[in-house]
Amino acid sequence: MNTDWSDHVQGINTLYTSRKLRFNDLFKERYLPIFNLPKDQPLRILEIGCGPGALAQALKRWYPQAEIVGIDRDTAFIEYARGHVPGVCFLEGDATQLPFADGTFDVTISNTVSEHIEPKAFYGEQMRVLKPDGICIVISGRRGYHHMAPCLDENEYEQAFWKKVQQHDHSMETYHVCQYPLNEMEHPKAMAAHGFRNITTGYALVDLTPDDPKYSKEMALDMIESGRGNDLDAVHSALKSLPEHISREEAEKMTAMINEKYDRRISLYLAGEKQWNTYVSIALIVRGTK
Ligand SMILES: C[S@@+](CC[C@H](N)C(=O)[O-])C[C@H]1O[C@@H](n2cnc3c(N)ncnc32)[C@H](O)[C@@H]1O
Repeated sequence: MNTDWSDHVQGINTLYTSRKLRFNDLFKERYLPIFNLPKDQPLRILEIGCGPGALAQALKRWYPQAEIVGIDRDTAFIEYARGHVPGVCFLEGDATQLPFADGTFDVTISNTVSEHIEPKAFYGEQMRVLKPDGICIVISGRRGYHHMAPCLDENEYEQAFWKKVQQHDHSMETYHVCQYPLNEMEHPKAMAAHGFRNITTGYALVDLTPDDPKYSKEMALDMIESGRGNDLDAVHSALKSLPEHISREEAEKMTAMINEKYDRRISLYLAGEKQWNTYVSIALIVRGTK
């Protein structure tokens, strides 16, 4: 049982809800031309580091004929994905020792995973399990914009809580988070250096602005709830990671404050009082052929 990532780095709510928005069908055409997958054959697709399964879920909608497998080493993510994403096979396992024979898949894909895994092992294993002419797709988050709604500003208690967490939390080093970051030029070079050819790059931009009327009420509320889930997960992680610094009472007080703020954000949205907070994410998509 390994729940290092879900307990100490990013929780299920954070990953599932944010990715469900980014891979919403509204944005499908921003991804598919860059993925550029063959349309005339049933594909076997492996998602590496699938987390709680939101990308695999989108892939199942976008390529209904495909056989999709997701693998991640976090037990809680895999259990969640199995319960929420029908039609996809989810396995607990290590991307550096994939439990598949050589030449099993037509496509390997990953989202915000490459930066956490040593590149030789990351690419080497994908190269091994891909069929000849198989396609490797690496999606990597780039710096976007994030403007919070004014009604979600942190009060003094919250600021002091997060400052204390920042001072004591070493989860990023402990769990080897983002040990292998690459910039926009280094990414395609790394894929080529590990033997892939015909490399292309593309960018998919997603803007999440709940007050923009182009989004349905349901999607706007999902955007707001995603923020709530992210903040509540961060409190949960702080309590799990720093039991000697964060008390249960402090975590409960933070939880109540966060819920109160987000309830107010929803009331303002429903009353038509616009905040115009926005989250713009930019994904670099690198594609190569074995
Ligand atoms: C930033 S999260 C992204 C999760 C998912 N791709 C998403 O976008 O929601 C990174 C994921 O990589 C997984 N991971 C990191 N190293 C791994 C490894 N060696 N083998 C399998 N999974 C790994 C973590 O458990 C985590 O779920």
